[in-house]
Amino acid sequence: MNFLVVLHSYLRWILLVLLLASILKGLSGLGGKKALTAGDKKLWLFTMISAHTTLLIGLILLLFGRMGIFTNPPPAGTSVMKDATYRFFYMEHPLMMIIAIVFITIGRGQAKKSIPDAVKYKKAFWFFVVALILILAAIPWPSRFGRPLFPGL
Ligand code: HEM
Repeated sequence: MNFLVVLHSYLRWILLVLLLASILKGLSGLGGKKALTAGDKKLWLFTMISAHTTLLIGLILLLFGRMGIFTNPPPAGTSVMKDATYRFFYMEHPLMMIIAIVFITIGRGQAKKSIPDAVKYKKAFWFFVVALILILAAIPWPSRFGRPLFPGL
Protein backbone atom coordinates (compact mmCIF):
# COMPACT_ATOMS: atom_id res chain seq x y z
CA MET A 1 0.00 0.00 0.00
CA ASN A 2 2.92 2.31 0.78
CA PHE A 3 4.00 1.77 -2.81
CA LEU A 4 0.62 3.04 -4.01
CA VAL A 5 0.90 6.22 -1.87
CA VAL A 6 4.30 6.90 -3.45
CA LEU A 7 2.96 6.20 -6.94
CA HIS A 8 -0.10 8.40 -6.30
CA SER A 9 2.19 11.17 -5.07
CA TYR A 10 4.57 11.06 -8.06
CA LEU A 11 1.69 10.84 -10.52
CA ARG A 12 0.80 14.32 -9.25
CA TRP A 13 3.96 15.67 -10.92
CA ILE A 14 3.36 13.79 -14.17
CA LEU A 15 -0.22 15.06 -14.26
CA LEU A 16 0.79 18.64 -13.42
CA VAL A 17 3.44 18.71 -16.17
CA LEU A 18 1.07 17.18 -18.76
CA LEU A 19 -1.78 19.47 -17.72
CA LEU A 20 0.44 22.54 -17.98
CA ALA A 21 1.63 21.44 -21.42
CA SER A 22 -2.01 20.85 -22.46
CA ILE A 23 -2.92 24.35 -21.31
CA LEU A 24 -0.04 25.82 -23.33
CA LYS A 25 -1.21 23.87 -26.38
CA GLY A 26 -4.72 25.18 -25.83
CA LEU A 27 -3.27 28.67 -25.63
CA SER A 28 -1.36 28.16 -28.88
CA GLY A 29 -4.66 27.53 -30.70
CA LEU A 30 -6.56 30.46 -29.24
CA GLY A 31 -5.65 32.68 -32.21
CA GLY A 32 -7.99 30.60 -34.34
CA LYS A 33 -5.54 29.99 -37.17
CA LYS A 34 -4.22 26.61 -36.15
CA ALA A 35 -5.69 23.21 -37.06
CA LEU A 36 -5.82 20.73 -34.16
CA THR A 37 -2.71 18.59 -34.51
CA ALA A 38 -2.41 14.85 -33.85
CA GLY A 39 0.33 15.64 -31.33
CA ASP A 40 -1.93 17.96 -29.34
CA LYS A 41 -4.69 15.33 -29.36
CA LYS A 42 -2.23 12.75 -28.06
CA LEU A 43 -1.01 15.08 -25.32
CA TRP A 44 -4.58 15.73 -24.16
CA LEU A 45 -5.25 11.98 -24.19
CA PHE A 46 -2.16 11.25 -22.06
CA THR A 47 -3.17 14.00 -19.66
CA MET A 48 -6.57 12.36 -19.25
CA ILE A 49 -5.08 8.90 -18.81
CA SER A 50 -2.70 10.08 -16.09
CA ALA A 51 -5.61 11.84 -14.34
CA HIS A 52 -7.72 8.67 -14.46
CA THR A 53 -4.83 6.54 -13.19
CA THR A 54 -4.30 8.94 -10.27
CA LEU A 55 -8.03 8.76 -9.54
CA LEU A 56 -8.04 4.96 -9.57
CA ILE A 57 -5.10 4.71 -7.15
CA GLY A 58 -6.67 7.44 -4.99
CA LEU A 59 -9.86 5.41 -4.75
CA ILE A 60 -7.92 2.29 -3.69
CA LEU A 61 -6.08 4.35 -1.03
CA LEU A 62 -9.33 5.83 0.23
CA LEU A 63 -10.92 2.41 0.64
CA PHE A 64 -7.97 0.14 1.54
CA GLY A 65 -4.98 2.42 2.37
CA ARG A 66 -3.30 3.30 5.63
CA MET A 67 -6.28 5.52 6.44
CA GLY A 68 -8.68 3.51 4.28
CA ILE A 69 -12.37 3.42 5.14
CA PHE A 70 -12.36 -0.42 5.22
CA THR A 71 -8.84 -1.14 6.45
CA ASN A 72 -8.07 1.67 8.93
CA PRO A 73 -11.27 3.59 9.73
CA PRO A 74 -11.13 6.59 12.09
CA PRO A 75 -11.09 5.60 15.79
CA ALA A 76 -14.54 5.32 17.37
CA GLY A 77 -15.87 8.71 18.41
CA THR A 78 -13.91 10.66 15.78
CA SER A 79 -16.04 13.17 13.94
CA VAL A 80 -14.74 13.03 10.38
CA MET A 81 -16.14 16.45 9.58
CA LYS A 82 -14.57 18.06 12.67
CA ASP A 83 -11.14 16.52 12.20
CA ALA A 84 -9.20 18.56 9.63
CA THR A 85 -7.11 15.62 8.39
CA TYR A 86 -10.01 13.18 7.92
CA ARG A 87 -12.22 15.89 6.44
CA PHE A 88 -9.50 16.68 3.94
CA PHE A 89 -8.61 13.12 2.88
CA TYR A 90 -12.16 11.71 3.03
CA MET A 91 -14.08 14.65 1.57
CA GLU A 92 -12.26 17.74 0.25
CA HIS A 93 -9.38 16.03 -1.55
CA PRO A 94 -11.40 13.30 -3.34
CA LEU A 95 -14.31 15.60 -4.20
CA MET A 96 -12.25 18.43 -5.65
CA MET A 97 -9.98 16.02 -7.51
CA ILE A 98 -12.92 14.12 -9.02
CA ILE A 99 -14.44 17.40 -10.22
CA ALA A 100 -11.04 18.40 -11.68
CA ILE A 101 -10.75 15.05 -13.47
CA VAL A 102 -14.26 15.46 -14.91
CA PHE A 103 -13.11 18.85 -16.27
CA ILE A 104 -9.98 17.27 -17.78
CA THR A 105 -12.14 14.56 -19.38
CA ILE A 106 -14.53 17.14 -20.85
CA GLY A 107 -11.59 19.27 -22.01
CA ARG A 108 -9.98 16.34 -23.77
CA GLY A 109 -13.40 15.37 -25.23
CA GLN A 110 -13.43 18.64 -27.21
CA ALA A 111 -10.91 17.06 -29.58
CA LYS A 112 -13.53 14.52 -30.69
CA LYS A 113 -16.36 16.99 -31.29
CA SER A 114 -17.45 18.23 -34.70
CA ILE A 115 -16.81 21.89 -33.94
CA PRO A 116 -14.21 24.26 -35.43
CA ASP A 117 -10.66 23.58 -34.21
CA ALA A 118 -10.38 27.09 -32.75
CA VAL A 119 -13.38 26.34 -30.51
CA LYS A 120 -11.85 23.00 -29.48
CA TYR A 121 -8.67 24.78 -28.40
CA LYS A 122 -10.56 27.49 -26.56
CA LYS A 123 -12.89 25.18 -24.67
CA ALA A 124 -10.16 22.68 -23.84
CA PHE A 125 -7.98 25.54 -22.58
CA TRP A 126 -10.61 26.76 -20.11
CA PHE A 127 -11.57 23.30 -18.85
CA PHE A 128 -7.89 22.53 -18.24
CA VAL A 129 -7.26 25.84 -16.49
CA VAL A 130 -10.14 25.26 -14.05
CA ALA A 131 -8.93 21.69 -13.47
CA LEU A 132 -5.41 22.95 -12.72
CA ILE A 133 -6.69 25.48 -10.18
CA LEU A 134 -8.77 22.79 -8.44
CA ILE A 135 -5.85 20.34 -8.37
CA LEU A 136 -3.41 22.93 -7.01
CA ALA A 137 -5.94 23.81 -4.30
CA ALA A 138 -6.60 20.18 -3.33
CA ILE A 139 -3.07 18.77 -3.21
CA PRO A 140 -1.89 18.08 0.36
CA TRP A 141 1.17 20.36 0.15
CA PRO A 142 3.83 19.83 2.87
CA SER A 143 2.81 23.04 4.65
CA ARG A 144 -0.69 21.65 5.30
CA PHE A 145 -0.38 18.02 6.30
CA GLY A 146 3.36 17.44 6.26
CA ARG A 147 3.08 15.18 3.20
CA PRO A 148 6.33 15.10 1.19
CA LEU A 149 6.78 16.64 -2.25
CA PHE A 150 8.96 13.71 -3.34
CA PRO A 151 8.45 10.73 -1.00
CA GLY A 152 11.53 8.55 -0.58
CA LEU A 153 14.02 11.22 -1.61
C1 HEM B 1 -5.59 14.85 -9.68
C2 HEM B 1 -5.82 13.96 -8.77
C3 HEM B 1 -5.06 13.75 -7.50
C4 HEM B 1 -3.82 14.20 -7.10
C5 HEM B 1 -2.87 15.11 -7.87
C6 HEM B 1 -3.58 13.67 -5.78
C7 HEM B 1 -2.45 13.91 -5.01
C8 HEM B 1 -2.22 13.37 -3.76
C9 HEM B 1 -1.01 13.57 -3.00
C10 HEM B 1 0.18 14.39 -3.44
C11 HEM B 1 -1.14 12.88 -1.83
C12 HEM B 1 -0.12 12.79 -0.69
C13 HEM B 1 0.69 11.52 -0.85
C14 HEM B 1 1.70 11.35 0.26
O1 HEM B 1 1.33 11.35 1.45
O2 HEM B 1 2.90 11.18 -0.04
C15 HEM B 1 -2.45 12.25 -1.85
C16 HEM B 1 -2.96 11.47 -0.85
C17 HEM B 1 -4.18 10.84 -0.91
N1 HEM B 1 -5.09 10.88 -1.94
FE1 HEM B 1 -4.87 11.88 -3.68
N2 HEM B 1 -4.66 12.91 -5.41
C18 HEM B 1 -5.58 12.93 -6.43
C19 HEM B 1 -6.81 12.32 -6.48
C20 HEM B 1 -7.34 11.56 -5.46
C21 HEM B 1 -8.63 10.95 -5.47
C22 HEM B 1 -9.65 11.11 -6.61
C23 HEM B 1 -8.77 10.27 -4.30
C24 HEM B 1 -9.92 9.46 -3.78
C25 HEM B 1 -10.96 9.07 -4.44
C26 HEM B 1 -7.55 10.44 -3.55
C27 HEM B 1 -7.30 9.91 -2.32
C28 HEM B 1 -6.17 10.12 -1.57
C29 HEM B 1 -5.97 9.58 -0.24
C30 HEM B 1 -6.94 8.70 0.54
C31 HEM B 1 -4.72 10.01 0.18
C32 HEM B 1 -4.03 9.70 1.51
C33 HEM B 1 -3.24 8.43 1.34
C34 HEM B 1 -2.49 8.05 2.60
O3 HEM B 1 -1.88 8.92 3.22
O4 HEM B 1 -2.54 6.88 2.94
N3 HEM B 1 -6.71 11.23 -4.29
N4 HEM B 1 -3.08 12.55 -3.04
